[in-house]
Amino acid sequence: MILVTGATGHVGRSVVRRLAARGREVVAMVRDIDAARRRLPAKIPLRVGDYVDIRSLQTAFDGVDVLVLISSDGEADAVMRHHANAIDTAAASGVRHIVFTSIIDADEVSPFYFADVYRTSERQLAHCGVPSTVLACGLYSDFILEHWLQPGVASGELALPASYGQFAPISRDDVAAAIASVAARPEKFGDTRMLTGDQLLDFNDVCTIYRKVGGRPLHYRACAIEEYLTAASARLDDPWPRAFASLCASIGHGRYCYTMNHFAGITRRKPESFRDFLVRTLSGIPPGELPSSNRQNPR
Ligand SMILES: NC(=O)c1ccc[n+]([C@@H]2O[C@H](COP(=O)([O-])OP(=O)(O)OC[C@H]3O[C@@H](n4cnc5c(N)ncnc54)[C@H](OP(=O)(O)O)[C@@H]3O)[C@@H](O)[C@H]2O)c1
Repeated sequence: MILVTGATGHVGRSVVRRLAARGREVVAMVRDIDAARRRLPAKIPLRVGDYVDIRSLQTAFDGVDVLVLISSDGEADAVMRHHANAIDTAAASGVRHIVFTSIIDADEVSPFYFADVYRTSERQLAHCGVPSTVLACGLYSDFILEHWLQPGVASGELALPASYGQFAPISRDDVAAAIASVAARPEKFGDTRMLTGDQLLDFNDVCTIYRKVGGRPLHYRACAIEEYLTAASARLDDPWPRAFASLCASIGHGRYCYTMNHFAGITRRKPESFRDFLVRTLSGIPPGELPSSNRQNPR
């Protein structure tokens, strides 16, 4: 039995659907049954669990062989506690393999707000006594679109403190595809894999692609961290201005500037390019249904 946490979320629900489509026995851990009923196929069994409530995790993990632990979100200390509760409870519940979504920049010298959280969670996972696979994720294409490109369209400018640092975005749906493949055959894995796209872009490239695909003017300007923090603090609650600024700093320092072929190794296909992701998403086309004519020119 495979249990997927965060199953009302974007990545989690795609993992659940993919495992069910493969005929796997999959259960979805959710906090909100009504949201789950709206977002997941009716046939998916649900278990209610909250990372802050260890008893609920004990009940949810009963009889589970493979735990897909989709990383939590929020204030850093809380996220660290969420992961710790889930990992400890899985180890005590007889779970046989944990698949954990981490980040590609969890290094000690990383300026990223969440680096310490993920480094600590990965260390705990390595010592919990349960075999595990860490899927360290690059920047989601969806995150770039929702948090930076779409809000930037109103002014026509995307100002970020990321300099011209490059990164290789990967779509949430591709991340879900890789997670499902690993969860379906965990015995073939058991190490750390890096999930990135296969194209290096900077934010200037990203805006160029967005202008071509979205038909809206949008230009990149590399700004100072202080300027970004002032602007972001006017519209976002703590810790997000600090989290996003430190993510940009990490990108600007070149910490996201690589591609890995682990996605193709796991799924036997190329990751979706950022351009194809935009074409699909901006036209409302479901994942995997992009017309083949659009799969050519990566930019
Ligand atoms: N690599 C990147 O670029 C990037 C960007 C953003 C986020 N992330 C990470 O990737 C994860 C998955 O992304 P996503 O887009 O699927 O996120 P999402 O749509 O926000 O889903 C997060 C899921 O976590 C659940 N959750 C939150 N707190 C919980 C708690 N205390 N107990 C149990 N479940 C809890 C949420 O449940 P509810 O529906 O009940 O709230 C939701 O199902 C995020 O959580 C974050 O850690 C990565």
